[in-house]
Amino acid sequence: MKSLNAKRDDSEDESKDESKGGNEADGAASKAESKASAETDASGSAAVSASSSETSSASTEKAAEEASGASEGASETSGEASGAAIPKPTPSVPTGVKLDASISYDDALALLKKYNEDEFHIIHGETVGRLMEYYAKKYDPENAEFWRICGLLHDLDWEKWQEMQIHTVKAQELLEEAGVNPMVAHVIQTHNEWNTALPKPEHKMEKVLFAADELSGLIGAVVRMYPSKSAQDLNLKSLKKKYKDKRFAAGCDRENIQRGAELNGLDLDGLFNSMIEAYKATNE
Ligand SMILES: [Fe+2]
Ligand SMILES: [Fe+2]
Repeated sequence: MKSLNAKRDDSEDESKDESKGGNEADGAASKAESKASAETDASGSAAVSASSSETSSASTEKAAEEASGASEGASETSGEASGAAIPKPTPSVPTGVKLDASISYDDALALLKKYNEDEFHIIHGETVGRLMEYYAKKYDPENAEFWRICGLLHDLDWEKWQEMQIHTVKAQELLEEAGVNPMVAHVIQTHNEWNTALPKPEHKMEKVLFAADELSGLIGAVVRMYPSKSAQDLNLKSLKKKYKDKRFAAGCDRENIQRGAELNGLDLDGLFNSMIEAYKATNE
């Protein structure tokens, strides 16, 4: 299976990549602005500020988008966003029971492709899906397929609705139309902390999704720096170095990664080591 390396295998070198990362510092700041706007509104119901709507178009939600160049097309779609979206209530995920997503993995992939044309978005979904499956085998093996489908679909709506206040709320609609178990929407909504009306990560699969999404983007960018472009060359030292270099893949939110570690009861080194192992096991 193709890895996250695919998009830039042909042309990128380290200096070019870091330059791009630097340019996207503005995007990261815009995302923080958007969050601040959302948090100011305790009810979560006020309209998204104009600055949030505008700046989110320039921001890159994750390192995946950072690398994909998706931000270039964002301004064309973000104009649809006009307010903070309030999700319909969804059932939280119970522990210790067999879960049925009410969609097969293949149909979920077809659904992702229905709303995403950029190959990088498909690859990002598949990568996070594989990481979720890897962790499910450790923590919740009977539900590995459910975890994988949640990882695959976590950014279902992002390509067409690039607005943090709508992200995953629109996905809920799309999933409902497709007859998917509403628990899948519940899980994926927990990875968007920018819309404070959304549920928070509580189940282990939600905590893992939160951590795997952002960090897998940074790891993918690090792998692309290696001459081999191989995940097998990943190591803690180079990942830590790139994590500390805020100019590198600047669209990848370090605070979000730190929060992912905390959610999973790990320090940063612990999360890095775990995710390096998972990434190596699930990517070439
Ligand atoms: Fe997302
Ligand atoms: Fe993502």
